Amino acid sequence: MTAQPLATVRIARRGPLRGRLRVPGDKSVSHRALILAGLASGSSTITGLSAGLDVLHTRQIMQAMGVRIDEADDRRSGHPIGTLAVTGGDLQEPQQILDVGNSGTGARLLAGVCAGQPFKSVITGDQSIASRPMDRVVEPLRAMGAQIDGREGGRFTPLTITGGNLRGIDYTPPVASAQVKSALLLAGLSADGSTIVRESVTTRRHTEEMLVEHGVDVTTVADGHGGSIVTLSPGPVSAGSFAVPGDPSQAAFWICAAAAVPGSDVTVENLYLSPERTGFLRVLQRMGADLAVDADAGVIRVVGAELAGVVVEAGELPDLIDEVPALSIAGALATSGTLEFQGAGELRAKESDRIETVAAMLHALGGRVSTGPESLAVSAGSLRPGTVKSRHDHRIAMAAAAATSGLAVDGEIEISGWDAVATSYPSFLDDLDALTTKH
Ligand code: S3P
Repeated sequence: MTAQPLATVRIARRGPLRGRLRVPGDKSVSHRALILAGLASGSSTITGLSAGLDVLHTRQIMQAMGVRIDEADDRRSGHPIGTLAVTGGDLQEPQQILDVGNSGTGARLLAGVCAGQPFKSVITGDQSIASRPMDRVVEPLRAMGAQIDGREGGRFTPLTITGGNLRGIDYTPPVASAQVKSALLLAGLSADGSTIVRESVTTRRHTEEMLVEHGVDVTTVADGHGGSIVTLSPGPVSAGSFAVPGDPSQAAFWICAAAAVPGSDVTVENLYLSPERTGFLRVLQRMGADLAVDADAGVIRVVGAELAGVVVEAGELPDLIDEVPALSIAGALATSGTLEFQGAGELRAKESDRIETVAAMLHALGGRVSTGPESLAVSAGSLRPGTVKSRHDHRIAMAAAAATSGLAVDGEIEISGWDAVATSYPSFLDDLDALTTKH
Protein backbone atom coordinates (compact mmCIF):
# COMPACT_ATOMS: atom_id res chain seq x y z
CA MET A 1 0.00 0.00 0.00
CA THR A 2 1.40 3.40 -0.92
CA ALA A 3 1.19 6.62 1.07
CA GLN A 4 0.98 8.75 -2.10
CA PRO A 5 -2.21 10.81 -2.42
CA LEU A 6 -4.74 8.63 -4.25
CA ALA A 7 -8.22 9.50 -5.35
CA THR A 8 -9.65 6.17 -4.21
CA VAL A 9 -8.25 3.52 -1.90
CA ARG A 10 -9.60 0.07 -1.13
CA ILE A 11 -8.50 -1.33 2.18
CA ALA A 12 -9.16 -4.96 3.02
CA ARG A 13 -10.41 -6.01 6.43
CA ARG A 14 -7.59 -5.91 8.94
CA GLY A 15 -7.16 -7.75 12.18
CA PRO A 16 -6.77 -6.03 15.53
CA LEU A 17 -4.35 -3.10 15.78
CA ARG A 18 -1.11 -3.97 17.54
CA GLY A 19 2.14 -2.12 18.06
CA ARG A 20 3.86 1.02 19.21
CA LEU A 21 4.07 4.19 17.14
CA ARG A 22 4.87 7.87 17.06
CA VAL A 23 2.32 9.95 15.19
CA PRO A 24 3.22 12.95 12.99
CA GLY A 25 3.73 16.45 14.36
CA ASP A 26 0.71 18.21 15.85
CA LYS A 27 -1.08 20.25 13.20
CA SER A 28 -2.34 22.97 15.56
CA VAL A 29 1.09 23.40 17.10
CA SER A 30 2.85 23.32 13.71
CA HIS A 31 0.83 26.28 12.35
CA ARG A 32 1.62 28.27 15.47
CA ALA A 33 5.31 27.32 15.47
CA LEU A 34 5.70 28.67 11.94
CA ILE A 35 3.73 31.84 12.67
CA LEU A 36 5.56 32.68 15.88
CA ALA A 37 9.00 31.92 14.43
CA GLY A 38 8.06 34.13 11.49
CA LEU A 39 7.01 37.00 13.75
CA ALA A 40 10.16 36.72 15.88
CA SER A 41 13.19 38.80 14.95
CA GLY A 42 16.18 36.54 14.43
CA SER A 43 16.70 32.84 13.89
CA SER A 44 14.51 30.07 15.25
CA THR A 45 14.52 26.34 14.67
CA ILE A 46 11.52 24.04 14.50
CA THR A 47 11.67 20.24 14.62
CA GLY A 48 8.94 17.69 14.09
CA LEU A 49 6.64 19.91 12.00
CA SER A 50 3.53 18.28 10.49
CA ALA A 51 4.18 17.18 6.91
CA GLY A 52 0.55 17.80 5.95
CA LEU A 53 -0.52 20.18 3.21
CA ASP A 54 -2.36 22.48 5.65
CA VAL A 55 0.88 23.32 7.40
CA LEU A 56 2.74 23.58 4.10
CA HIS A 57 0.29 26.32 3.09
CA THR A 58 1.01 28.25 6.28
CA ARG A 59 4.73 27.85 5.65
CA GLN A 60 4.35 29.22 2.11
CA ILE A 61 2.26 32.12 3.38
CA MET A 62 4.88 33.11 5.94
CA GLN A 63 7.48 32.92 3.14
CA ALA A 64 5.28 35.13 0.96
CA MET A 65 5.43 37.72 3.75
CA GLY A 66 9.24 37.70 3.71
CA VAL A 67 10.08 35.00 6.26
CA ARG A 68 13.05 32.84 5.33
CA ILE A 69 12.50 29.13 5.94
CA ASP A 70 15.20 26.58 5.11
CA GLU A 71 15.65 22.91 5.76
CA ALA A 72 18.51 22.96 8.25
CA ASP A 73 21.41 20.80 7.14
CA ASP A 74 21.42 18.38 10.02
CA ARG A 75 24.91 17.04 9.25
CA ARG A 76 26.58 20.41 9.54
CA SER A 77 24.38 21.99 12.20
CA GLY A 78 23.90 18.91 14.35
CA HIS A 79 20.11 19.49 14.37
CA PRO A 80 17.83 16.44 14.23
CA ILE A 81 16.63 15.38 10.78
CA GLY A 82 13.71 17.46 9.61
CA THR A 83 14.74 20.63 11.40
CA LEU A 84 13.67 23.92 9.83
CA ALA A 85 15.64 27.12 10.26
CA VAL A 86 13.33 30.15 10.29
CA THR A 87 14.48 33.74 10.07
CA GLY A 88 11.62 36.09 10.84
CA GLY A 89 11.07 39.66 11.85
CA ASP A 90 9.32 42.48 10.06
CA LEU A 91 6.73 40.96 7.76
CA GLN A 92 6.44 42.41 4.25
CA GLU A 93 3.35 43.06 2.15
CA PRO A 94 2.79 39.86 0.15
CA GLN A 95 2.77 40.23 -3.62
CA GLN A 96 0.47 37.29 -4.12
CA ILE A 97 -2.83 36.06 -2.74
CA LEU A 98 -2.32 34.01 0.42
CA ASP A 99 -3.78 30.53 -0.12
CA VAL A 100 -4.50 28.54 3.04
CA GLY A 101 -5.66 25.48 1.08
CA ASN A 102 -8.08 23.46 3.21
CA SER A 103 -7.00 24.92 6.54
CA GLY A 104 -9.48 26.74 8.76
CA THR A 105 -6.74 27.18 11.36
CA GLY A 106 -4.50 28.74 8.74
CA ALA A 107 -7.26 31.06 7.51
CA ARG A 108 -8.28 32.33 10.92
CA LEU A 109 -4.88 32.57 12.62
CA LEU A 110 -3.34 34.24 9.59
CA ALA A 111 -6.25 36.69 9.44
CA GLY A 112 -5.17 37.72 12.94
CA VAL A 113 -1.53 37.99 11.88
CA CYS A 114 -2.39 40.06 8.80
CA ALA A 115 -4.72 42.32 10.78
CA GLY A 116 -1.71 43.32 12.87
CA GLN A 117 0.42 44.27 9.87
CA PRO A 118 0.44 47.73 8.25
CA PHE A 119 -0.21 46.42 4.76
CA LYS A 120 -2.81 44.85 2.52
CA SER A 121 -3.21 41.11 2.13
CA VAL A 122 -5.77 38.79 0.58
CA ILE A 123 -6.55 35.41 2.15
CA THR A 124 -8.31 32.66 0.28
CA GLY A 125 -8.51 28.86 0.32
CA ASP A 126 -10.17 25.87 -1.31
CA GLN A 127 -13.86 25.16 -1.88
CA SER A 128 -14.37 23.93 1.68
CA ILE A 129 -12.77 27.06 3.16
CA ALA A 130 -15.06 29.19 1.00
CA SER A 131 -18.08 27.87 2.89
CA ARG A 132 -16.66 28.08 6.41
CA PRO A 133 -17.66 31.03 8.62
CA MET A 134 -15.06 33.79 8.83
CA ASP A 135 -17.25 36.41 10.52
CA ARG A 136 -16.25 34.92 13.86
CA VAL A 137 -12.77 36.43 13.37
CA VAL A 138 -13.65 39.28 11.01
CA GLU A 139 -16.01 41.02 13.44
CA PRO A 140 -13.64 41.21 16.44
CA LEU A 141 -10.65 42.06 14.21
CA ARG A 142 -12.68 44.93 12.76
CA ALA A 143 -13.46 46.02 16.32
CA MET A 144 -9.69 46.16 16.89
CA GLY A 145 -9.41 48.53 13.92
CA ALA A 146 -8.55 46.29 10.97
CA GLN A 147 -10.27 47.00 7.66
CA ILE A 148 -11.56 43.72 6.32
CA ASP A 149 -13.68 43.07 3.30
CA GLY A 150 -14.86 39.73 2.04
CA ARG A 151 -17.62 37.83 0.34
CA GLU A 152 -21.07 38.46 1.88
CA GLY A 153 -19.75 41.37 3.95
CA GLY A 154 -16.79 39.39 5.29
CA ARG A 155 -18.63 36.22 6.26
CA PHE A 156 -16.61 34.17 3.79
CA THR A 157 -13.26 34.11 1.97
CA PRO A 158 -11.65 35.65 0.04
CA LEU A 159 -10.85 38.22 2.72
CA THR A 160 -9.00 41.44 1.97
CA ILE A 161 -7.30 42.78 5.06
CA THR A 162 -5.70 46.17 5.58
CA GLY A 163 -4.10 45.96 8.98
CA GLY A 164 -2.06 47.96 11.45
CA ASN A 165 -2.92 50.60 14.06
CA LEU A 166 -4.97 48.17 16.10
CA ARG A 167 -6.24 48.71 19.62
CA GLY A 168 -6.70 45.91 22.12
CA ILE A 169 -10.25 44.81 22.90
CA ASP A 170 -12.00 42.92 25.66
CA TYR A 171 -13.94 40.24 23.80
CA THR A 172 -16.17 37.28 24.61
CA PRO A 173 -16.39 35.03 21.52
CA PRO A 174 -19.91 33.75 20.83
CA VAL A 175 -18.53 30.30 19.91
CA ALA A 176 -15.94 28.26 21.80
CA SER A 177 -13.08 28.44 19.31
CA ALA A 178 -9.32 28.32 19.80
CA GLN A 179 -8.98 29.70 16.30
CA VAL A 180 -10.89 32.86 17.23
CA LYS A 181 -8.99 33.29 20.49
CA SER A 182 -5.68 32.78 18.67
CA ALA A 183 -6.50 35.24 15.87
CA LEU A 184 -7.19 37.96 18.43
CA LEU A 185 -4.08 37.22 20.49
CA LEU A 186 -1.88 37.27 17.37
CA ALA A 187 -3.43 40.56 16.26
CA GLY A 188 -3.04 41.89 19.80
CA LEU A 189 0.76 41.50 19.66
CA SER A 190 1.05 44.81 17.84
CA ALA A 191 -2.08 46.54 19.19
CA ASP A 192 -2.25 49.55 21.44
CA GLY A 193 -3.26 48.25 24.88
CA SER A 194 -4.08 44.78 26.16
CA THR A 195 -6.20 42.22 24.35
CA ILE A 196 -8.52 40.22 26.58
CA VAL A 197 -10.38 37.11 25.42
CA ARG A 198 -13.03 35.66 27.72
CA GLU A 199 -13.91 32.06 26.92
CA SER A 200 -16.97 30.50 28.50
CA VAL A 201 -15.45 27.07 27.77
CA THR A 202 -11.66 26.87 27.72
CA THR A 203 -10.36 25.77 24.32
CA ARG A 204 -6.92 24.41 23.42
CA ARG A 205 -4.30 26.72 24.87
CA HIS A 206 -1.43 26.24 22.43
CA THR A 207 -1.29 29.88 21.32
CA GLU A 208 -1.09 31.31 24.83
CA GLU A 209 1.40 28.67 25.97
CA MET A 210 3.62 29.12 22.93
CA LEU A 211 3.46 32.92 23.16
CA VAL A 212 4.71 32.68 26.74
CA GLU A 213 7.54 30.42 25.56
CA HIS A 214 8.38 33.11 23.02
CA GLY A 215 8.66 35.76 25.73
CA VAL A 216 5.25 37.44 25.37
CA ASP A 217 3.34 38.58 28.45
CA VAL A 218 0.15 36.47 28.41
CA THR A 219 -1.77 35.44 31.51
CA THR A 220 -4.65 33.00 31.79
CA VAL A 221 -6.97 32.85 34.78
CA ALA A 222 -9.84 30.44 35.32
CA ASP A 223 -13.22 32.18 35.49
CA GLY A 224 -14.48 29.66 38.03
CA HIS A 225 -17.16 28.25 35.66
CA GLY A 226 -15.05 26.11 33.30
CA GLY A 227 -13.97 29.07 31.22
CA SER A 228 -10.97 31.34 31.28
CA ILE A 229 -9.82 34.89 30.76
CA VAL A 230 -6.71 35.37 28.65
CA THR A 231 -4.92 38.73 28.75
CA LEU A 232 -2.11 39.61 26.36
CA SER A 233 0.11 42.69 26.62
CA PRO A 234 1.54 43.72 23.26
CA GLY A 235 5.22 43.09 22.76
CA PRO A 236 7.87 41.43 20.63
CA VAL A 237 8.03 37.69 20.01
CA SER A 238 11.44 36.22 20.76
CA ALA A 239 13.16 33.68 18.55
CA GLY A 240 14.02 30.23 19.88
CA SER A 241 13.99 26.49 19.32
CA PHE A 242 10.73 24.64 19.23
CA ALA A 243 10.01 20.90 19.07
CA VAL A 244 6.53 19.99 17.81
CA PRO A 245 5.01 17.03 19.71
CA GLY A 246 2.91 14.29 18.08
CA ASP A 247 -0.71 15.01 17.25
CA PRO A 248 -3.31 13.51 19.62
CA SER A 249 -5.99 14.08 16.97
CA GLN A 250 -4.12 11.71 14.63
CA ALA A 251 -3.44 9.25 17.45
CA ALA A 252 -7.20 9.23 18.09
CA PHE A 253 -7.88 7.11 14.99
CA TRP A 254 -5.69 4.30 16.28
CA ILE A 255 -6.73 4.68 19.91
CA CYS A 256 -10.49 4.77 19.27
CA ALA A 257 -10.45 1.81 16.87
CA ALA A 258 -8.09 -0.25 19.05
CA ALA A 259 -10.20 0.49 22.15
CA ALA A 260 -13.19 -1.19 20.51
CA VAL A 261 -11.53 -4.11 18.71
CA PRO A 262 -10.75 -7.09 20.95
CA GLY A 263 -7.17 -8.32 20.60
CA SER A 264 -5.81 -4.83 19.90
CA ASP A 265 -2.93 -3.44 21.92
CA VAL A 266 -1.56 -0.08 20.77
CA THR A 267 0.85 2.35 22.41
CA VAL A 268 1.28 5.87 21.06
CA GLU A 269 4.11 8.03 22.31
CA ASN A 270 5.47 11.57 21.78
CA LEU A 271 2.11 13.27 22.51
CA TYR A 272 1.40 16.53 24.32
CA LEU A 273 -1.66 15.56 26.35
CA SER A 274 -3.28 18.77 27.54
CA PRO A 275 -6.83 18.56 28.96
CA GLU A 276 -8.21 20.59 26.03
CA ARG A 277 -7.01 17.94 23.56
CA THR A 278 -7.88 14.78 25.45
CA GLY A 279 -11.64 14.86 25.83
CA PHE A 280 -11.78 11.78 23.60
CA LEU A 281 -9.77 9.80 26.18
CA ARG A 282 -12.23 10.78 28.91
CA VAL A 283 -15.15 9.66 26.73
CA LEU A 284 -13.44 6.35 25.90
CA GLN A 285 -12.79 5.80 29.61
CA ARG A 286 -16.50 6.35 30.35
CA MET A 287 -17.30 3.87 27.59
CA GLY A 288 -15.23 1.27 29.44
CA ALA A 289 -12.01 1.41 27.41
CA ASP A 290 -8.91 -0.26 28.78
CA LEU A 291 -6.60 2.78 28.68
CA ALA A 292 -3.39 3.68 30.46
CA VAL A 293 -2.48 7.34 30.04
CA ASP A 294 0.80 8.84 31.19
CA ALA A 295 0.17 12.52 30.45
CA ASP A 296 3.61 13.64 31.66
CA ALA A 297 5.43 11.19 29.40
CA GLY A 298 2.95 11.77 26.56
CA VAL A 299 2.20 8.05 26.21
CA ILE A 300 -1.14 6.28 25.81
CA ARG A 301 -1.62 2.50 25.80
CA VAL A 302 -4.96 1.00 24.85
CA VAL A 303 -6.07 -2.63 24.86
CA GLY A 304 -9.25 -3.69 23.04
CA ALA A 305 -12.31 -4.15 25.27
CA GLU A 306 -16.10 -4.25 25.19
CA LEU A 307 -17.40 -0.67 25.09
CA ALA A 308 -20.79 0.88 25.85
CA GLY A 309 -22.17 4.10 24.34
CA VAL A 310 -22.40 7.19 26.57
CA VAL A 311 -23.73 10.75 26.29
CA VAL A 312 -21.24 13.51 25.42
CA GLU A 313 -22.56 16.90 26.50
CA ALA A 314 -22.12 20.24 24.73
CA GLY A 315 -19.60 21.52 27.27
CA GLU A 316 -17.27 18.61 26.50
CA LEU A 317 -17.23 19.22 22.75
CA PRO A 318 -14.35 21.76 22.50
CA ASP A 319 -12.01 19.21 24.14
CA LEU A 320 -12.79 16.59 21.46
CA ILE A 321 -14.00 18.71 18.55
CA ASP A 322 -11.75 16.98 15.98
CA GLU A 323 -12.13 13.48 17.40
CA VAL A 324 -15.83 12.91 16.71
CA PRO A 325 -15.24 10.89 13.49
CA ALA A 326 -12.76 8.62 15.32
CA LEU A 327 -14.97 8.31 18.42
CA SER A 328 -17.94 7.45 16.24
CA ILE A 329 -16.07 4.34 15.04
CA ALA A 330 -15.68 3.28 18.68
CA GLY A 331 -19.39 3.97 19.20
CA ALA A 332 -20.39 1.89 16.17
CA LEU A 333 -18.17 -1.03 17.26
CA ALA A 334 -19.31 -0.88 20.90
CA THR A 335 -21.26 -3.82 22.27
CA SER A 336 -24.09 -1.87 23.87
CA GLY A 337 -25.70 1.54 24.17
CA THR A 338 -25.59 4.68 22.04
CA LEU A 339 -22.76 7.18 21.80
CA GLU A 340 -24.61 10.48 21.62
CA PHE A 341 -23.07 13.90 20.99
CA GLN A 342 -25.41 16.63 22.19
CA GLY A 343 -25.20 20.38 21.54
CA ALA A 344 -22.74 19.64 18.76
CA GLY A 345 -23.82 22.18 16.11
CA GLU A 346 -20.19 23.34 15.70
CA LEU A 347 -19.52 20.02 13.94
CA ARG A 348 -21.44 21.40 10.98
CA ALA A 349 -18.79 24.13 10.49
CA LYS A 350 -15.73 21.88 10.10
CA GLU A 351 -13.94 20.65 6.93
CA SER A 352 -17.33 19.12 6.11
CA ASP A 353 -20.67 19.12 7.91
CA ARG A 354 -19.51 16.39 10.26
CA ILE A 355 -22.94 15.57 11.64
CA GLU A 356 -23.97 14.60 8.10
CA THR A 357 -20.67 13.17 6.87
CA VAL A 358 -20.05 10.98 9.93
CA ALA A 359 -23.62 9.69 9.63
CA ALA A 360 -23.21 9.00 5.90
CA MET A 361 -19.90 7.21 6.50
CA LEU A 362 -21.37 4.93 9.16
CA HIS A 363 -24.53 4.26 7.14
CA ALA A 364 -22.34 3.20 4.22
CA LEU A 365 -20.64 0.69 6.52
CA GLY A 366 -23.87 -0.72 7.94
CA GLY A 367 -23.81 1.35 11.13
CA ARG A 368 -26.92 2.67 12.87
CA VAL A 369 -26.92 6.45 13.28
CA SER A 370 -29.41 9.24 13.80
CA THR A 371 -28.87 12.97 13.52
CA GLY A 372 -30.54 16.14 14.73
CA PRO A 373 -29.77 19.81 14.05
CA GLU A 374 -27.17 19.74 16.83
CA SER A 375 -26.79 16.06 17.64
CA LEU A 376 -25.34 12.81 16.41
CA ALA A 377 -26.22 9.44 17.93
CA VAL A 378 -24.28 6.29 17.02
CA SER A 379 -25.74 2.97 18.14
CA ALA A 380 -23.58 0.02 19.13
CA GLY A 381 -23.43 -2.80 16.60
CA SER A 382 -21.08 -3.88 13.85
CA LEU A 383 -19.55 -2.47 10.69
CA ARG A 384 -19.35 -4.13 7.29
CA PRO A 385 -17.48 -3.56 4.04
CA GLY A 386 -18.80 -0.64 2.00
CA THR A 387 -18.04 2.46 -0.05
CA VAL A 388 -17.41 5.78 1.69
CA LYS A 389 -16.98 9.25 0.23
CA SER A 390 -14.55 11.45 2.14
CA ARG A 391 -16.45 14.60 1.06
CA HIS A 392 -13.01 16.25 0.98
CA ASP A 393 -12.72 15.75 4.74
CA HIS A 394 -9.50 14.05 5.85
CA ARG A 395 -10.96 12.91 9.14
CA ILE A 396 -13.90 11.13 7.50
CA ALA A 397 -11.50 9.25 5.21
CA MET A 398 -9.19 8.27 8.09
CA ALA A 399 -12.04 7.19 10.37
CA ALA A 400 -13.36 4.90 7.61
CA ALA A 401 -9.88 3.47 7.06
CA ALA A 402 -9.44 2.80 10.79
CA ALA A 403 -12.77 0.92 10.74
CA THR A 404 -11.17 -1.80 8.57
CA SER A 405 -9.67 -3.18 11.79
CA GLY A 406 -13.13 -3.89 13.18
CA LEU A 407 -15.13 -5.23 10.20
CA ALA A 408 -17.51 -8.01 11.15
CA VAL A 409 -17.06 -9.89 7.86
CA ASP A 410 -14.40 -10.19 5.19
CA GLY A 411 -14.26 -7.59 2.43
CA GLU A 412 -12.98 -4.10 1.67
CA ILE A 413 -13.80 -0.53 2.55
CA GLU A 414 -13.49 1.67 -0.51
CA ILE A 415 -12.82 5.33 0.24
CA SER A 416 -13.05 7.91 -2.53
CA GLY A 417 -11.47 11.33 -2.07
CA TRP A 418 -8.61 9.79 -0.12
CA ASP A 419 -6.33 12.64 -1.26
CA ALA A 420 -7.91 14.77 1.51
CA VAL A 421 -5.76 12.82 3.98
CA ALA A 422 -2.65 14.56 2.64
CA THR A 423 -3.81 17.75 4.38
CA SER A 424 -2.90 16.29 7.76
CA TYR A 425 -1.51 12.73 7.80
CA PRO A 426 0.23 11.75 4.55
CA SER A 427 1.75 8.62 6.15
CA PHE A 428 -1.56 7.27 7.50
CA LEU A 429 -1.59 4.10 5.39
CA ASP A 430 1.99 3.26 6.36
CA ASP A 431 0.98 3.43 10.00
CA LEU A 432 -2.13 1.31 9.34
CA ASP A 433 0.12 -1.28 7.70
CA ALA A 434 2.59 -1.17 10.57
CA LEU A 435 -0.16 -1.69 13.17
CA THR A 436 -1.88 -4.52 11.31
CA THR A 437 1.12 -6.54 10.09
CA LYS A 438 1.24 -9.91 11.78
CA HIS A 439 3.77 -9.78 14.62
C1 S3P B 1 -7.89 24.36 16.00
C2 S3P B 1 -9.04 24.59 16.68
C3 S3P B 1 -10.29 23.87 16.44
C4 S3P B 1 -10.05 22.58 15.67
C5 S3P B 1 -9.11 22.77 14.52
C6 S3P B 1 -7.77 23.27 15.02
C7 S3P B 1 -6.72 25.17 16.30
O1 S3P B 1 -11.14 24.70 15.68
O2 S3P B 1 -11.26 22.05 15.20
O3 S3P B 1 -8.91 21.56 13.82
O4 S3P B 1 -5.59 24.79 15.90
O5 S3P B 1 -6.88 26.24 16.92
P1 S3P B 1 -12.11 25.77 16.41
O6 S3P B 1 -11.22 26.55 17.29
O7 S3P B 1 -12.71 26.62 15.34
O8 S3P B 1 -13.13 24.93 17.13
